[in-house]
Amino acid sequence: MAADAARVIASAPDAGALEEVRIGLIGKNGSVTALLKTLGAMSPEARAEVGPKVHGLRARVTAELAEAKARLEDAAMAAQLASERIDLTLPAPEAPRGSVHPVSQVMDELAEIFADLGFAVATGPEIEDDWHNFTALTIPESHPARAMHDTFYTAGHNGGPGTMLLRTHTSPVQIRAMLAAGGDQPLRIIAPGRVYRADSDATHTPMFHQVEGLVVGRDIHLGHLKWTLETFLKAFFERDDIVLRLRPSYFPFTEPSVEVDAGYSWQGGRRVIGGSGDAPGHAWMELLGSGMIHREVLRAGGYDPDAWQGFAFGAGIDRLAMLKYGMSDLRAFFDGDLRWLTHFGFSPLDIPTLSGGVGVRG
Ligand code: PHE
Repeated sequence: MAADAARVIASAPDAGALEEVRIGLIGKNGSVTALLKTLGAMSPEARAEVGPKVHGLRARVTAELAEAKARLEDAAMAAQLASERIDLTLPAPEAPRGSVHPVSQVMDELAEIFADLGFAVATGPEIEDDWHNFTALTIPESHPARAMHDTFYTAGHNGGPGTMLLRTHTSPVQIRAMLAAGGDQPLRIIAPGRVYRADSDATHTPMFHQVEGLVVGRDIHLGHLKWTLETFLKAFFERDDIVLRLRPSYFPFTEPSVEVDAGYSWQGGRRVIGGSGDAPGHAWMELLGSGMIHREVLRAGGYDPDAWQGFAFGAGIDRLAMLKYGMSDLRAFFDGDLRWLTHFGFSPLDIPTLSGGVGVRG
């Protein structure tokens, strides 16, 4: 019996087979278990003689099973190690890398450049109420400027009660920033973000990006506006020969209003900002709208227009990006074409600064 058990245990080829063997020997209905059960019916003398042998058999079988189990497990481990070798010196497979969209990159550059000039970044909702988007900016219900904006209304219509809309410009953030400041302290903010107009062709998309600038102080004048824009544009385009031309214009929320043009030339099929627009081979390009904050707008923002004044400007971020990085079709900005994004996108590690490092494509 003992020799039989030892042979069966030794010849089990794997852990599963060995478990079958174990159950057959010392399981509830196993042969060794059956022997143990016979002890109860024996006379004390017989049990004294047979008992130790049966218990001894059970102990031996149990030990042999454990030994066989350890041996089979070792063998299985050795086989696994032999078949699943990992070469840690192999280079890791390359993971696909995303890129930063040029619009995000330019927004980061704007925040960086204006931070150096003491501007904070302010935000406002994209679903805006009629008062902040129009009325507080002195564009009342009947004002023709409303028609200029091709507004998407989300509730109500054109100034009626409860009218909500997709903001048509970042200018409502002027009002929000002034009201948040409380009317008794100077203010210097930019507000980059999405704006919406029902307009779509090669140079217009229904959603686009603007950056608003707002400076409020006791003695802020047009000279500050011009210097600020010049300093910003020189840093942004990374060249010193930016020449600006301020042209009288009209916006309901600034008085006087000035349209700002920059000189540029064509180089290799691209518009390149720089030089005077009056120089040979150059022309002027409209870059942004600006002006001194209208007295009524200051008042709507909680500032006393007899004690405070300031300037505001608004520029298209997408256009700034196209000019700086040489893209020609605005619609490609929002197509989500991976080839375009890979070509024009930026590395997340490419952190813009005023003094360099801007514009290295990832
Ligand atoms: N909000 C104006 C626009 O969208 C731009 C602007 C901003 C003009 C601030 C003057 C001052 O066209």
